[in-house]
Amino acid sequence: MASPRKIRVAVLISGRGSNMVALIEAAKDPAYPAEIVLVLSNRPDAAGLGRAAEAGIPARAVDHRAFPDRASFDAALDAELRAADVDLVCLAGFMRIFTPAFVAGWAGRMLNIHPSLLPLFKGTHTHAQALEAGVRLHGCTVHFVVPELDAGPIVAQAAIPVREGDDPDSLADRVIVQERRLYPAVLAMVAGGRARLEGDRVVIADTAPEGVLFSV
Ligand code: GAR
Repeated sequence: MASPRKIRVAVLISGRGSNMVALIEAAKDPAYPAEIVLVLSNRPDAAGLGRAAEAGIPARAVDHRAFPDRASFDAALDAELRAADVDLVCLAGFMRIFTPAFVAGWAGRMLNIHPSLLPLFKGTHTHAQALEAGVRLHGCTVHFVVPELDAGPIVAQAAIPVREGDDPDSLADRVIVQERRLYPAVLAMVAGGRARLEGDRVVIADTAPEGVLFSV
């Protein structure tokens, strides 16, 4: 029997791309339901571009500074994604805010990973925000992208304990470990049809493996 067509995924980065590498590694499994077909960065100097190219993935910069406004930058990104026949976009440390029109064009087909347990601590400096708030659990979230920043239906989260003596760097070091586990697991769930959007909620078809949705 022919195996089902894999979901074609583009990963958008702005920096080192360690979540992107985790997705590329996971997608090497022949049974994985998605393939990474394109990596784009808004920054030509993003270290992740080289790491993607080393893995044999087409990797290009679309430098936001070359465009007069957000709409024209987003249109250039959109053209790249459509030219590559992309089904699903994964934001992985992509640090640009999109126009509502771009988000609408990829509604239900764009995921983001954010380094906090949303809806807590949106925006930047999430680890410092967590320490400031005095929470005992911190973590990361993968969610569908909506026009509002760091909002949108949550697919899955992973949590870590906040320990005495933690600082933003030590929290970042432990959260990123969970991010690199969570994102490939979530992409498999979405691409494989086990997690799907119903209105503004994500419905999970079966129980996720222990430790995927919640790992302390
Ligand atoms: C990750 O911690 C990701 O959650 C965060 O940037 C880092 C990228 O690391 N994303 C955001 O803050 C988006 N608002 P990576 O380049 O090694 O994957």
